[in-house]
Amino acid sequence: MKEKISEDQRLHWERTYHENPSMYGSSASEPGAYAIDLFSRLGLKTVLELGSGQGRDTVPMLEAGLDVTALDYSDEGLRELRLRATRFEHQLGVVKHDVHEPLPFPDESFDACYSHMLFNMALSTEELISLTQETRRVLRPGGVLVYTARHTGDAHYGVGADFGDNRFENGGFVVHFFDRDLVDRLADGFELDDVTPFNEGELPRKLFRVTMTRSPIT
Ligand SMILES: C[S@@+](CC[C@H](N)C(=O)[O-])C[C@H]1O[C@@H](n2cnc3c(N)ncnc32)[C@H](O)[C@@H]1O
Repeated sequence: MKEKISEDQRLHWERTYHENPSMYGSSASEPGAYAIDLFSRLGLKTVLELGSGQGRDTVPMLEAGLDVTALDYSDEGLRELRLRATRFEHQLGVVKHDVHEPLPFPDESFDACYSHMLFNMALSTEELISLTQETRRVLRPGGVLVYTARHTGDAHYGVGADFGDNRFENGGFVVHFFDRDLVDRLADGFELDDVTPFNEGELPRKLFRVTMTRSPIT
């Protein structure tokens, strides 16, 4: 059942990206611009992006001189990203992977991780805990994770089919709406540096932008 939901969701992303080659546009999002500024100021060079989609934040990161490994489970999203990023081949790695599985990277292989609106997809709380710990594993000590997630103040919270665990399906996508308690739970093994609410788009989507640093203790 869990595998079926994941595959249904992946296919929905494939169709949606196929029909919308520029679904989120091509300019950096607000958290994308924030992450570029933060990573550059801290001298963090190697970035793992989880759920890169069509690359609206990946390309600005490459333009800023960062080395990015972009991961997503959608062929269509990654195809568009490759088209947009042809001039940055030497700085870009592209990996097709479902984050329900352990991340396919060695321990301590990245300076930073960035993820805009992947954490709030169909993943359960237990799966999010595993993902965050996997992210911690592949970050070097002192490495920084910036992620965003729609929260329970969002207009779509509680609307549509109820998948349990604060997850609701709307427009074919299952969204996990975060409360502040979940943000704190996912910070195990990290220093929680900052949690900033922000809005995106016309609905507007209401999100948390979370910044945390991998604690030095392994
Ligand atoms: C809301 S979109 C955000 C895309 C991009 N970060 C942006 O802001 O433009 C979520 C992305 O996560 C990807 N995704 C969702 N669930 C995934 C999973 N289990 N494994 C890998 N990627 C996933 C989708 O394919 C999609 O590209």
